[in-house]
Amino acid sequence: MSGKTESVSRGRCLIGGRWVAPASGETLPVICPSDGRVFAEIASGGPADIDAAVAAARRAFEKGAWGRLPAFERGRLLMRLSAAILDHVEELAEIESRDTGKPLSQGRADIRACARYFEYYGGAADKLHGDTIPFLEGYTAASFWEPHGVTAHIIPWNYPAQIFGRSIGAALAAGNACVLKPAEDACLSLLRIAELMQEIGFPEGALNIVPGPGEEAGAALAAHPGIDFISFTGSPETGTAIQAAAARNHIGCTLELGGKSPQILFADADLEAALPVVVAAIVQNAGQTCSAGSRVLIEKTVYEEVTARLAARFRELVAGPHDRDLDLGPLISRRQMERVRGYLGEARERGIPVLAEGRLAADLPPGGYYVPPVLLGPVPASERLACEEVFGPVLACLPFADEAEALALANATPYGLVAGVWTADGSRQLRLAHGIRAGQVFVNGYGAGGGIELPFGGVGRSGHGREKGFAGLYEFVKLKTVVWNHG
Ligand code: NAI
Ligand code: MG
Repeated sequence: MSGKTESVSRGRCLIGGRWVAPASGETLPVICPSDGRVFAEIASGGPADIDAAVAAARRAFEKGAWGRLPAFERGRLLMRLSAAILDHVEELAEIESRDTGKPLSQGRADIRACARYFEYYGGAADKLHGDTIPFLEGYTAASFWEPHGVTAHIIPWNYPAQIFGRSIGAALAAGNACVLKPAEDACLSLLRIAELMQEIGFPEGALNIVPGPGEEAGAALAAHPGIDFISFTGSPETGTAIQAAAARNHIGCTLELGGKSPQILFADADLEAALPVVVAAIVQNAGQTCSAGSRVLIEKTVYEEVTARLAARFRELVAGPHDRDLDLGPLISRRQMERVRGYLGEARERGIPVLAEGRLAADLPPGGYYVPPVLLGPVPASERLACEEVFGPVLACLPFADEAEALALANATPYGLVAGVWTADGSRQLRLAHGIRAGQVFVNGYGAGGGIELPFGGVGRSGHGREKGFAGLYEFVKLKTVVWNHG
């Protein structure tokens, strides 16, 4: 890894095609969550760097080579980037895994997903067709999709490469020039991918990156009068600030703010198929996934059997350092570890039974941010654990009596991102798919984080707007109507 820490992007911002030191001259330490040690540094960017990045993006969009590139050429560049990412899977997976603490095989899957986003949106770049519209006699009317211009992207640390791919891939495919403020807790993989973009020959200023603290670089970007749209993924609290900033500049935004997504298990479900998926959906990335399946609603007649079988699986789970590639890694930071422990401490104080706990690997490096997976239940629906996002490997079990109660519980949080419905009854599948308040419903399956092609996003506290799929692409364009009066 030591060679990689020397790469040109370390401690720098990407502005107008050049890697430059931030105006402050300062850096932020990059910590490996597996041992709590500093192993690299990133730029500590601020408002002056954001100003420069927005100006560079504007130039690229209005006067630069990027803005003049035909759609199919943009698509080709994106697909070339996808291939380059795949050529560097091992290097990038190692970076991602060390930076976030996630097991190496999850890092690898994330890098492959990132490549897939660039491939998908690369292929879509020249397929944003407009419409002709039947109108009055003597007129021809048509609508065209146009890029917003300069798009701002503020993304979190849980899936740096994947969220980079889905957000930047779509925005560039649509023809925007981008300014990205990645998360201070993890962004090395996307900095390395930006180096690859430079090597491939992306025109200068198409993508600009200013790493730095959220309250400084992030807030300056969200409030900047030179941006035309904001794409944000992160906490509801920051999402509120982002939307307020967008409102002051009269621009749009998409907010993807996480969830408290339920998996609903009916007695007639194929438990053999369901239970491994239920476990994986909370263990993946140590539960730090916006779409983690963090609640499991279980029909009462099978509650004892299901919780016993889930408990048996939980006891087998092992958390440890990213490079040992176990079931799960550490949490991202001391702060997140303390937050998750806070929820667990409160649950114990309030008498919520712990049904099972996983293990920590032997010989853990001291200083890592480890929390073993925990299964709790029954969790009363009014408890914080039943309705707040923990963002850790913590699964809450809630029994229900019938379909009506299952639906009421599923919809009983302020969130609405994803849900899983497990039942053999086809009519019930459809009733619940329609009744559940969420952006995605999986029937007899669950996809935490997967599905590049599948529109994804929330309602309520989970945010608004859609990412992934073609819907994600359409967020990055606006419609212009043109009317000809030709008599
Ligand atoms: P956060 O929302 O503060 O951070 C996300 C991004 O926003 C980062 O790039 C950060 O630098 C930036 N940011 C922070 N404050 C900002 C501001 N005032 N203006 C502009 N940008 C700002 O989330 P954080 O603090 O890392 O995590 C807290 C909780 O948020 C987690 O425990 C989890 O529940 C939730 N979360 C949800 C995510 C999701 O995938 N939907 C991802 C990360 C966190
Ligand atoms: Mg924060």
